[in-house]
Amino acid sequence: MKPAPLENLRGDYAGMAPDWTVPQHVDLYSDEDQAVWRLLVERQTTLARQHACDEFLRGLEALGIGDAIPDFEEINARLEPLTGWRIVGVPGLIPDTAFYDPLAHRRFPVTIWIRTRAELDYLVEPDLFHDFFGHVPLLTDPVFADYMQAYGRRAIAAGLDNIHRLARLYWFTVEFGLIHTAKGLKVYGAGILSSAAEVKHAIEGQGVERLPFAPAQAMDRPYEIDRLQNTYFVLDDFRQLLDRPSAH
Ligand SMILES: [Fe+2]
Repeated sequence: MKPAPLENLRGDYAGMAPDWTVPQHVDLYSDEDQAVWRLLVERQTTLARQHACDEFLRGLEALGIGDAIPDFEEINARLEPLTGWRIVGVPGLIPDTAFYDPLAHRRFPVTIWIRTRAELDYLVEPDLFHDFFGHVPLLTDPVFADYMQAYGRRAIAAGLDNIHRLARLYWFTVEFGLIHTAKGLKVYGAGILSSAAEVKHAIEGQGVERLPFAPAQAMDRPYEIDRLQNTYFVLDDFRQLLDRPSAH
């Protein structure tokens, strides 16, 4: 998820490394954590089979995402041979600069804690389920994997000057992107695929704008973080993400 202002966060930041990473202790998840994971995976996998693009579904399969919270090292043993990406544990949201650097090095930060049962449908901060289920499957796709790294490199090169515009590009692609396919309109954005309501809204919602993907337009468009989206940008092909638009 896009980093937000760092205040009142619920993760434990005390024991993290200087690069904001923390170890994942997979044996410390409670039975309730595992039950919440199972509920979310079952629900969102069913929706993904109907509405996600094939690249995402192939990623779910390749990573072996199932009914137990994944061990990050086991995932890395599957992911890294495919595209060179690895996932690293983080306590929760991290600052922009701490987020872009790992992307540029094919490292994707994943929050180690999972939401409670009371938050199945919505929580303010991204958790393990959003970060993992939403984002990691597409890192198995070579084109999308290249885009994520290119995005991180570009954000570093841009410095703080274009940070808001780049954040909007991330929002309208990585988080809330749609794609036209031979099987119809499909979802690839993590913010959609980790939310039951957003999947249905994005694909079937009435009065929703679905615009052809135009990076400059996406970067100019403000977004709201705590409601269903009114506007989505739709790709025709993932390779469009690698076309570098002007940031100005
Ligand atoms: Fe996200």
